[in-house]
Amino acid sequence: MRIVITVGGSIIIKDHDYKKFQDYANVLRSMAEEHQIMVVVGGGRTARDYIGIARDLGASEALCDDIGIEVTRLNARLLITALEGDAYPRVPHNFSEALEFSTSGKIVVMGGTEPAHSTDAVGSILAEFVGADLLLNATSVDGLFDKDPNKYPDAHMFPQITPSAMMKLLSDKEMKAGTYEFLDKTAIQIIGRSRIKTVILNGEYPENLKKAINEKIGTLIVPNSE
Ligand code: UTP
Repeated sequence: MRIVITVGGSIIIKDHDYKKFQDYANVLRSMAEEHQIMVVVGGGRTARDYIGIARDLGASEALCDDIGIEVTRLNARLLITALEGDAYPRVPHNFSEALEFSTSGKIVVMGGTEPAHSTDAVGSILAEFVGADLLLNATSVDGLFDKDPNKYPDAHMFPQITPSAMMKLLSDKEMKAGTYEFLDKTAIQIIGRSRIKTVILNGEYPENLKKAINEKIGTLIVPNSE
């Protein structure tokens, strides 16, 4: 299977130490024995800090995004470093480069591509571009909830959901006001049109990535009925 994985920076760089990178590298290596693996890494707090400084300096939003992209690529390099010879040594800057690098048979790790979207969007576009069989979205909570599970103990996790229902949730005023963030609009639209099997799962435990191949965990995004 060809599997695309997006890992939020809020998970992998959260503690600013090597351990999470190493844990991820071990799991990815083992998955790569049977599958073709491509990973998109987010920017996390480091990206937000850099973007904040750039914004205070008067940078445009697009320039802020570009600085965020640089940070995602730095995080990608750290994961490549952790994977040693099992990863392709360069970070692709676009989708055709990612496809090209994947012909090496190595794990491909990238960050962002261009301004105005998130690495979750990059992951869904990459999955569509390379014709992935599965898209795994590693977040800091167990799946997709109707509200922030860190704030509301009665938050409900959806075992499965359609892209249309996710869009509706996104446009809900209350969701926008809160800080609970999940896949952005672009990501949801791409998942909707490509109908790629997608699982949102808890990336605090990297083994969940392996589990999601054969077991039912997290939230499964099922295609809209048309
Ligand atoms: P992300 O928002 O994707 O990082 O990228 P993240 O770490 O996954 O976020 P968490 O972990 O969910 O909190 C960081 C920033 O980089 C820019 C955006 O400004 C984004 O907020 N970026 C990233 C782009 O502009 N384009 C990209 O393709 C990727």
